[in-house]
Amino acid sequence: MHIPTLIERKRDGGVLSDEEIHAIIAAFTRGDMPEYQMSSLAMAIFFRGMTPEETAALTDAMLHSGTMLAWNDDDPIRVDKHSTGGIGDKTSLVLAPLLACDGVWVPMISGRGLGITGGTLDKLESIPGFRTQLNEAEIHSVIDQVGCAMIGQTVGICPADKKLYALRDVTGTVPSIPLITASIMSKKLAEGLNRLVLDVKYGSGAFMKTEEQAHQLAQSMVRVGNALGVRSSVRLSAMNEPTGESAGNALEVAECVRCLQGGGPQDLEDIVLDLASAVAVSPRVDLQKMLHRGDAWHKFQQMVALQGGNVEALEKITTVHRAPFIAEFKSPASGVLHRMDAGGIGQVVLELGAGRSKAADPVDFAVGCDQIAKTGMQVRAGDVLLRVHARTKAALARALDVLPQHIEVV
Ligand code: URA
Repeated sequence: MHIPTLIERKRDGGVLSDEEIHAIIAAFTRGDMPEYQMSSLAMAIFFRGMTPEETAALTDAMLHSGTMLAWNDDDPIRVDKHSTGGIGDKTSLVLAPLLACDGVWVPMISGRGLGITGGTLDKLESIPGFRTQLNEAEIHSVIDQVGCAMIGQTVGICPADKKLYALRDVTGTVPSIPLITASIMSKKLAEGLNRLVLDVKYGSGAFMKTEEQAHQLAQSMVRVGNALGVRSSVRLSAMNEPTGESAGNALEVAECVRCLQGGGPQDLEDIVLDLASAVAVSPRVDLQKMLHRGDAWHKFQQMVALQGGNVEALEKITTVHRAPFIAEFKSPASGVLHRMDAGGIGQVVLELGAGRSKAADPVDFAVGCDQIAKTGMQVRAGDVLLRVHARTKAALARALDVLPQHIEVV
């Protein structure tokens, strides 16, 4: 295999064969293909794209660059969802235990927040003692006992993606549909799934800004999932206002506890039930009964305990992590709440310290926004539209100063 010839072929709009793609990924993972060649190929893919067959081959090659979770033939079916991320997107914490109540297994590998979108691992780590880095034996043990585990990527899974993502991050090649598809799907398929639902979001608070871009990414991921033997479906949704009523790690855990106890909020519960019913055995109406009966809440507490978390802390998580400065942001006028811009609120929450700008940044579990009002609501001047939780007086003042740009009452 002569790598420069393959790079030139992709640069000129040609197609790489299945064998060539597998050989490239194997060489790159072993360290035999230098990063400058892989960067150049990534840029050629960025401009020229890939056929569905090339994208599936790239996903398959990245999936087999490392280990996969292994299951027995008589184990229950394995299901999961992947969200492309949004503001206040806390769906996973409710969905995984709910699906486990349905008798399916959920080996959910999640990521950390980067930029304005939060990460499931950061939210979970706000629970004192909760361990997200489990080895394979521990993952199997937790799933055997409760049916779900919520964990970070293990060292053995998709090493090719770890290397390639780090390169893409510094070479302007992240926003490429085939590269995103292969990156996301290889990690999800490494869970050894039977069914996967994709929650692809678009709008100011999402990675994909337009519905058209989201549709293209969704199509690409569903095609690859099905081609590689996993029943895959998609739910496209707008991310123009935050999901639920809070954004920020411990604040979101508190909201999930309310939802798991059957207390909404409605939009969060609707997303959870829509996504769960795409991969569950039981119909939506039965899943809703399980949620309202508290079955998923019970399951969540069992999972938290098995992963080392302090179950007692769950119902008082906002006391465990309490920001020193909390202030209400009130409506300046009476009318209808027309805009609660997800991108803007996400930026405020990031700057309060709940998110990270670089992968190595620490996160502050206590800060963020809660009691976020929903668009379409009738409000009166002086009504609370949200509360800001800040670490310092200066951070609070900055947030209150920029919030009016992102909120509109007409
Ligand atoms: N998330 C990933 O895991 N990979 C991408 O390429 C983009 C988002």
